[in-house]
Amino acid sequence: MKILEIQGKTGHSKILVGESLNHFERYIPKGKCVIITDQNVNSLYGDAFTDYDVIEIGTGEKVKTLKTVEDIFAKLVEFEVDRSGFVLGVGGGIVCDISGFVASTYMRGIRFGFVSTTLLAQVDASVGGKNGVNFSGYKNMVGTFNQPEFVICDMALLKTLPEREVLCGFGEIAKHAFIGDMALCDFLEQNHKKAIALDADVIARLVYDSVVIKSGVVNRDEKEKGERKKLNFGHTFGHAIEKTAGLLHGEAISIGMVVAARLSQKKGLLSNEDVERIITLLQKLTLPVNIDADRNILIDAMRKDKKRKGDDIDFVLLNGIGNAIIKGISIAELEKVVGHL
Ligand SMILES: NC(=O)c1ccc[n+]([C@@H]2O[C@H](COP(=O)([O-])OP(=O)(O)OC[C@H]3O[C@@H](n4cnc5c(N)ncnc54)[C@H](O)[C@@H]3O)[C@@H](O)[C@H]2O)c1
Ligand SMILES: [Zn+2]
Repeated sequence: MKILEIQGKTGHSKILVGESLNHFERYIPKGKCVIITDQNVNSLYGDAFTDYDVIEIGTGEKVKTLKTVEDIFAKLVEFEVDRSGFVLGVGGGIVCDISGFVASTYMRGIRFGFVSTTLLAQVDASVGGKNGVNFSGYKNMVGTFNQPEFVICDMALLKTLPEREVLCGFGEIAKHAFIGDMALCDFLEQNHKKAIALDADVIARLVYDSVVIKSGVVNRDEKEKGERKKLNFGHTFGHAIEKTAGLLHGEAISIGMVVAARLSQKKGLLSNEDVERIITLLQKLTLPVNIDADRNILIDAMRKDKKRKGDDIDFVLLNGIGNAIIKGISIAELEKVVGHL
């Protein structure tokens, strides 16, 4: 096991890469602990926490709502959880985002930690202290910054993860490589087959290197005043596709990264070879790189982006692979690039 730390203003977080779900009791405080998990994870791994009160939620983005949060609050009251209680979220990004928000707001905040069970959650969603739910059609519109006390990344759990979900995790790993780690990009290029086959050593390195990048960025800019925005590479367009084309998050951001790379090339920041290198790596990871969707619907979805300031959208571009920068891009410019996909 390797441990990485985040020293945030909202708390101190230990990311335990390679720790086992079966050891979670080592990290929770004495006293009441309630597990929040989803149907799939509970049926596969529920045996690991039979001694605890468990709150099971449904699956998919559709459950990431205030209604689910309210249902969980009701259960916490029923289980007589007070301010000394602890919430352990065991699941993917959806469970982590919801249970982090629940723990941050129930009785003005109780202690919490995660066992992240998807590759995407291990390399991204469970790390960094952002939590929340969707609201009124907007993703992650309501939430807080608050660090989990610990995150257990147990890569053995990935064996049961559907392949499409594994690939989504590669989307975020590739993102970390593109925005800040050329060596990780090289490693992915050389080891994509082993990665897809979930080779234990390769996955261990990919998860660890990703968490190094993410935790480093979060340590420098916890509340997304500047540098943390780089982690949104591929996400402005990605979120628009995710909503309108019904793709999974990692698939949508793969296409979003191609758009952002092309935009970077148009701005003279990225060479044609580097754009091709990005596309080729995403294809090697069997992620989608283009989409057959109504361009007007996509542009409209981006217009509604909550990160938009006036006529410009804050866009993360690449000034060469491994070096992200943030630039305001007008809707008119975006329309041109999206039209030429
Ligand atoms: N807070 C953040 O910083 C952050 C960052 C990135 C993404 N996110 C959020 O994360 C969410 C996506 O997370 P996700 O991709 O983990 O999706 P998810 O939580 O929906 O999990 C994907 C599917 O895999 C199942 N599953 C989970 N673990 C499993 C296992 N070990 N074996 C078999 N099946 C398993 C789940 O039940 C679900 O059906 C999105 O809502 C996104 O907005 C948050
Ligand atoms: Zn993402």
